[in-house]
Amino acid sequence: PPSIVKFTVQVNGQPHTLEVDTRTTLLDALREHLHLTGTKKGCDHGQCGACTVIVDGRRINSCLTLAVMHEGAKVTTIEGLGTPDKLHPMQAAFVKHDGYQCGYCTPGQICSAVAVLDEIKQGIPSHVSADLNAKPLLNETELRERMSGNICRCGAYSNIIDAITEVSGRAA
Ligand code: FES
Ligand code: FES
Repeated sequence: PPSIVKFTVQVNGQPHTLEVDTRTTLLDALREHLHLTGTKKGCDHGQCGACTVIVDGRRINSCLTLAVMHEGAKVTTIEGLGTPDKLHPMQAAFVKHDGYQCGYCTPGQICSAVAVLDEIKQGIPSHVSADLNAKPLLNETELRERMSGNICRCGAYSNIIDAITEVSGRAA
């Protein structure tokens, strides 16, 4: 039988108390319980990155984690990054550089990109930089590696990298 659990989570700065089946993923809790449909369900199996959100400063695939595991956590979705009137700099850069075509992967790409620049700022190595012991961490190979969990069927990769590069403060 389903077991329903009540828990509180902060989403985009607002506390929400939810009652969900323990088997509910964070992705389904966001989309179906909080109606935050900006976060997309592509594969539901951790393979596409469309469901990427930022939890306590780290990006995760929200399809791969249970909602109830995030009691007390701070979750940021695409809706919490910016608004149509006041875009987050990463959103504005995606618009400027045409970092999307159909847009389905875009919320995940943008959440991931925001977290990637944070990882780099903190000096957290990727597989590439760990292998090569490479510094600086901010170059195209590095960005492509770090963004490799976010698949784009439309192939907007170059423009996505241009957008991230611009936000990172380097000339594209
Ligand atoms: Fe989560 Fe594809 S929907 S990784
Ligand atoms: Fe269509 Fe990326 S813009 S999947």
